[in-house]
Amino acid sequence: MTHPVEVFPDRESFARRAVEIVEGAVDRARAERARALIALSGGSTPRRAYELLGERGSLAAPDVEIFFADERCVPPSDHASNYRLVAETVGDAGNVRRIRGEIEPDDAALEYESLLRERFGEGPPAFDLLLLGIGADGHTASLFPDAPELAGRERWVVATREVHAWVRRVTLTLPVVNAGREAVMLATGAEKAKAVAEVLAGGRVPAARVLGARLLLDEAAAGGSQPPAPRPRADELLDLGTEGAGDET
Ligand code: 6PG
Repeated sequence: MTHPVEVFPDRESFARRAVEIVEGAVDRARAERARALIALSGGSTPRRAYELLGERGSLAAPDVEIFFADERCVPPSDHASNYRLVAETVGDAGNVRRIRGEIEPDDAALEYESLLRERFGEGPPAFDLLLLGIGADGHTASLFPDAPELAGRERWVVATREVHAWVRRVTLTLPVVNAGREAVMLATGAEKAKAVAEVLAGGRVPAARVLGARLLLDEAAAGGSQPPAPRPRADELLDLGTEGAGDET
C-alpha cells in the first residue's frame, strides 16, 4: 500500500498542514458519527502543530476525545510524559483519555485496553485519526524494531518489555494502529531520512507496517527517498491567520 507524501520547506507550513489534517478528520468524523476519536503521539515533531491546535481550540469540544498512541511510564507531571506535552499545548478540556504512566506498566496497558473496549466495543478500535511520529530507528508509537510487542494480534494495548529512552512505554499495537480510518506520520530532520526511505520502500521497520499512512516530511527527512512531492502553494495551505477556529461563528 503506498504512502501519500507531502514535503514542506519549513516547520511552520509543516505544522499548519498537520493541523489541517487533524481538523479535517475531526470535521468528517463529526459529520458522519457526531463524534471524533483521535490518537496523538508524543515526541518533539508534533509540538508546533499541537500548539496551533491549542491556540485554535479545535479539539476542545465535548464531541472530540483525545487518546494516545503511546505513553512513557512516568507520572503525568514528568517532562517525558506525552500527556503533559498534549495538556500543555493542545490543552485538556476534560476530553483527554490519558494512559496512566504512573502505575505499573502492564496494569496501565490493561486499564487502557479496557477503556478502549468500553469506548469502541469489541470491534477493532477505529480511531478517526492517528497522528504518529517516526523514530530514527523506524519505530512509531512505542513499537520498536524487532520488539516482541510487534507480534501481538489479540491485545490492543501492551507495555514494552524493554525500556526505551530510559523508561518502559505503553503502546497501541499494530492491529489497532492499522484499524484506524486515517493515519498521518510526521517526520523532520536528516536523522529521519533513512527511516523514511525504509517506510517508502516498504521495509521492515515498524513505521513501514502502518498501512497507507500519509507522510508529512520536511526536505531533510525526505532527503533519503523519492524526489520531494510538489510543494503545496502557500494559498493552498490552511489560512490559520489570526482568526482561528475558535472565532468562527
Ligand atoms: C514518543 C512517540 C514516538 C515519537 C518518535 C519520534 O512517545 O516518543 O510516540 O513514537 O513519535 O520517537 O519522536 P520525535 O518527534 O521526538 O522525533
